[in-house]
Amino acid sequence: MTKVLVTGALGQLGTEICKSLRLRYGDEAVLQTDVRPPSPAHQGYYRTLDVLERGAIEQVVANFQPTIVIHLAALLSATGERWPELAWKLNVGSALNLLEIAREAGFTFFLPSSIAAFGPGTPVDDTPQITVQRPSTMYGITKVTGELLCEYYFTRYGVDTRGLRFPGLISHSAPPGGGTTDYAVEIFEAALRHGRFACPLAPDTRLDMMYMPDASKAVMDLLDAPADKLIHRNAYNVTAMSFTPAELAEAIRVHLPRFELVHEPDPTRQRIADSWPNRMDDRAARQEWGWDPRYDIQAMVADMLDQVERKLQS
Ligand SMILES: NC(=O)c1ccc[n+]([C@@H]2O[C@H](COP(=O)([O-])OP(=O)(O)OC[C@H]3O[C@@H](n4cnc5c(N)ncnc54)[C@H](O)[C@@H]3O)[C@@H](O)[C@H]2O)c1
Repeated sequence: MTKVLVTGALGQLGTEICKSLRLRYGDEAVLQTDVRPPSPAHQGYYRTLDVLERGAIEQVVANFQPTIVIHLAALLSATGERWPELAWKLNVGSALNLLEIAREAGFTFFLPSSIAAFGPGTPVDDTPQITVQRPSTMYGITKVTGELLCEYYFTRYGVDTRGLRFPGLISHSAPPGGGTTDYAVEIFEAALRHGRFACPLAPDTRLDMMYMPDASKAVMDLLDAPADKLIHRNAYNVTAMSFTPAELAEAIRVHLPRFELVHEPDPTRQRIADSWPNRMDDRAARQEWGWDPRYDIQAMVADMLDQVERKLQS
């Protein structure tokens, strides 16, 4: 029987993935954990767990006996630049804790990487699956380290590690957690409420993006894939769309013609964004386990406006 333990389950990605997992495997089979308490309305099986405490994780694993661990607890890019030492401790320390436990417990271990694992010197267009990875942020350094640790534990100890290099993720269920691409989420509420958004990135800053239903699907599809098909198992490039703030504003104007985008520069976020790819080449994911995103920019914008408007009215 499949049993899934999710860390960082209350975050932007965890909120959505846990919904998909509970639908597929049932409430009892999905243990959602996070360092903070859930809201009273939170659904499913939940317990508090700090991923920096190895003993506590060992206990939870011994009791729940997961077959899969999806490890999402992390500090993101912009927050990581504010607290780099904490970013290293949390992102790398927790991954190491779980990989060590996986050696004994034998669960499949999913760890997300990011476009942040690239940096200056990486080709920005059609960024290859295997290329230069010398990130200039602490977050990026922790992501490359996570990829390498997963590779090491797979090769040396046979742990079934799997991972994806996610682009910016766009969603409406939970607020984004301090990343460089948060603007592509915040813009929708601002457009509906005020008809105007002050963007921290320059209008021509191009980045890879993905709508959350596709991110959730990517995790499920990768976890379903037969192990022997996975050549680049720990860090597949995956993308669904690539746009600039100006292009996103244009797509929003199809629905809200008076929407106005202004630029209010954030030098930290701009520096980070400028060091990331414009668009990744995700052919390895498509060929090895059938990656096939459903949402392009038009479909994502239509659905986001609809969902955020409903939320504002409720
Ligand atoms: N959101 C994106 O755009 C994006 C893009 C690429 C990769 N990722 C990766 O996906 C993963 C999840 O990202 P997210 O956007 O959901 O982040 P988020 O910030 O929304 O959520 C992270 C969660 O981790 C929890 N957490 C923090 N410290 C913890 C601790 N010590 N113990 C247990 N839980 C702790 C937080 O409470 C939070 O709920 C991360 O590894 C991130 O790097 C996200």
